[in-house]
Order: sequence, then C-alpha cells, then structure tokens
Amino acid sequence: MRIGVVGTGYVGLVTGSCLADSGNSVTCLDINADKIARLERGEVPIYEPGLEELVERNSKAGRLKFTTDTAAAIRDAEVVFLAVGTPPAADGSADLSALWSVVDSIASHLRPEAVVVTKSTVPVGTCAGIERRLKAAIGRDCRVASNPEFLKEGAAIEDFQKPDRVVVGVRSSEVGDILRTLYAPFLRTENPFLVMSPESSEMTKYVANALLATKISFINEVANLCERMEADIDDVRRGIGHDSRIGFAFLFPGAGYGGSCFPKDVQALAAMARDKGVAPRILAAVHDTNLAQKKVLGDKIAAWFGGDLVGKHVAIWGLAFKPRTDDVRDAPALDLIERLLAGGALVTAYDPEAMGNVRALFGDRVGYAAGPLEALDGADCLAIVTEWGDFRRPDFDEMRRRMKGRVIFDGRNLYDPREMRDRGFSYHAIGKQPV
Ligand SMILES: NC(=O)c1ccc[n+]([C@@H]2O[C@H](COP(=O)([O-])OP(=O)(O)OC[C@H]3O[C@@H](n4cnc5c(N)ncnc54)[C@H](O)[C@@H]3O)[C@@H](O)[C@H]2O)c1
Repeated sequence: MRIGVVGTGYVGLVTGSCLADSGNSVTCLDINADKIARLERGEVPIYEPGLEELVERNSKAGRLKFTTDTAAAIRDAEVVFLAVGTPPAADGSADLSALWSVVDSIASHLRPEAVVVTKSTVPVGTCAGIERRLKAAIGRDCRVASNPEFLKEGAAIEDFQKPDRVVVGVRSSEVGDILRTLYAPFLRTENPFLVMSPESSEMTKYVANALLATKISFINEVANLCERMEADIDDVRRGIGHDSRIGFAFLFPGAGYGGSCFPKDVQALAAMARDKGVAPRILAAVHDTNLAQKKVLGDKIAAWFGGDLVGKHVAIWGLAFKPRTDDVRDAPALDLIERLLAGGALVTAYDPEAMGNVRALFGDRVGYAAGPLEALDGADCLAIVTEWGDFRRPDFDEMRRRMKGRVIFDGRNLYDPREMRDRGFSYHAIGKQPV
C-alpha cells in the first residue's frame, strides 16, 4: 500500500519504518525541516534500538521517504497515519493544536478513498471531530479511523512488529479490512486484531495507560509505607505477585513514572471525565501520588545531609525516563536535578543516551560525565534514577574508591541491601529499610 505518515517522532518514525519494512511504500512528513534533512541523510534523530538499521535499509530500498511537502506525502496515499504530538494543555486536557493543523493542511490533498488514521493518542470523539472538519473543508465524507499505538520506547520496533494486539476503531467493515491487511504481516502468531468503534478505540488507549500508571502509583505508595513499617517491598511484591489474580507486571516501585505518555494521558483522561461530569477520583490520586513520588529521592538526599545541600556533590546515574531511550520528557531525573540545583548542590550526571537532551534543558548547570564511574569522582552521594543495564553490576570497589561519601540513593532498587552494606556503602532503596 502507499502510506503517508504525518509526524516523524517516536511513534511516526517507528510506524513508517516498520510499515516500509513489510513492503509498503511510505512517505513520512514533518514540519521540522531539520529533522527531515537529517533523516534524508540517513541520520536518525532519536535513539531507539534497531531503528537506524530499519530506516537505512528501507530508505535504500526506496520504500521509505521523508519530506516537508504535504502534497508529496498525501496525494498518492491510500492510508494516512497522523502521529503528531498531543501534549498536555495547562488544564491537563490534550492539546490537539498540532493535530488540527495537520487535518487542515492535508484535507485538500486527500484522495477520495484515502483512510485517515489517528495513531496519536487523542481524546474520545476526536475521530468524529476529524470527520466533521474534513467534510467542512472539502465538502465530502472522508474515511477516518482510530488505531492507537501501544509501543514502549526502548522496545518500540519489537512492540510494533509483534504487538500483543492491534486495536482499530472504524465506522465501516471496508476500512477495518484495509487496516487488517496492512497489519497482517505483524499478526502471524494469531495475536488479535480488535475492531470496535472509534470512540471505544480512543478510550482503550487512555484506559490502558491509566491502568498501568495506577499500578505504578499504587506500588509506590505501598513501598513508602513499607519503609515506615519495617517491611520490604520486594518480599511483599513476591507475596502478592504469585497470586494469579494479581501478577508481577508493572508492580515495581521506583522514583515515579515519566515519559511523554503516562503523565499526560492520566491527566487527559481525568480532564475528559470532568468534562462529562464524572469525578476522576482514582486518576487524580494516581497523578498526585506520582508527583509526590518524583520528590522521594530528593527528600531522602536532603534529609541525609541535614537539609543543607549547599556545595554537596551529587552524582546521578540515569536521566532518560526509562532505559533504552534518550527521551527525557517528564523524566523523574529532571525534577531531582531542579531540586538539587535549587538547594545549591553540584550535580554530575551520566546517561548512555540522554545527556544531549538534558544538556539542552540545563546547559552547563549540570556536569556530564564520560561514564558512570567518572560521574562518581569526589561525589558525596550517588542517586540512581534510570535502570540502564550498565548500572546493574558495576565495579563496586572502584565506586568506593572514587566517591567521597559512600552513600547510594537507589530509585530503581538495583542492588541487594545486605551486599551493599557488606561492601561498605550506606544504601537507600525504595520500599526497603536503609542500611
Ligand atoms: N512516545 C511513545 O512512547 C508513544 C506511545 C504510544 C502513543 N504515543 C502517542 O503518539 C503521539 C506522538 O508521540 P511521539 O512521542 O511520537 O511524539 P514526538 O513529539 O516524538 O513526535 C511528534 C512529531 O510530530 C511533528 N509535528 C508536529 N506538528 C506537525 C505538523 N503540523 N505537521 C507535521 N509534523 C508535525 C513534530 O515535529 C514531531 O517530529 C502522541 O499522541 C503520543 O501520545 C506515543
């Protein structure tokens, strides 16, 4: 099929390259001319494992093209995916300005039989809104579908190519069949292709993210309680996880969730609820709990230094909101850095992929180390914020030699507290007794 993808971010670029890799002819459109120029040169502007190779292979094969020219991307396309950002507005609702601007700009270029598909996470009713807006612009009915994306950054290609399920929201079975054909190569293992209304499909995406965020906030609250009750969250987690009604997924305590999806989607669903006169009590609590959780590491560090951070040298391992990505949107590390700098601390950070994005925000107010061990030179303490594989089995002897204070605040529970005590560290994890 001939496919247009609008927006070449984490979702659009992965969607475009995976669809090209399954034999489609894909043109990706973005308003960011610099991004498009880099992609045309074969440079991938984001870090996502496997993406560079996929872009290179399909660009060379002539199946994947990049442009800033709307007509060039849309006029031949049988299916047009919208994958632009839908960030939070001031009141928490989804800001759809980029999406509406795309709808307006593509309208006159659409083929009569083209299917416009929202891959961006959009509030319930947006597909219907796009149908109305396109009709008003070009005077005829257009085929619009919802197809939310469930990929995880860091494993985006695998998730796209082997999805647990594909959800589509359509008004006609013909449109459902077009999307079924497009996704067939990715569903060979019989994972389900679920067809529903656009409204249910739009809702499904928010509910999936809101439930995952709820699990995280729940276990974080319980972890904080464990710390004050001489209980250990890992024991409790094992104790509940083996219950087949509960399971283990997404029940790891930490420094709070971040990224471009959970925080904004929880708030957007809450805004939709309020708009319909339904009190979003759980969603509000999930969000507030997460804001508080992002402060926990900073609180522990401040308390350790008696409330005075002036001149304290804090090393940070991990800046991305999760491992295997360079994405720092809403990352807990940003809150921690703000807090430490405001308190007068010196911060030296290391992340395998995300230092460029943090430098764009904090500039030289933060020191950037060449490696994890280098970040520790002369540090009064270490804070671990992202669970990159590199941090799991470090050279503890070398760490001890390089650090001035042998204190670790671990926001991801990477180590065994007893082992850390035996190695001569003071170790503070989440939901465990400090040693
Ligand atoms: N990132 C994820 O893990 C993820 C997962 C599932 C769903 N989503 C959803 O997918 C959508 C996109 O997310 P993302 O992380 O890829 O965003 P992103 O910010 O990485 O990318 C958005 C892209 O859209 C481009 N853009 C903005 N306005 C445009 C316009 N008028 N015309 C053409 N291009 C335009 C931007 O330049 C940017 O390259 C969001 O709704 C998000 O909620 C994201």
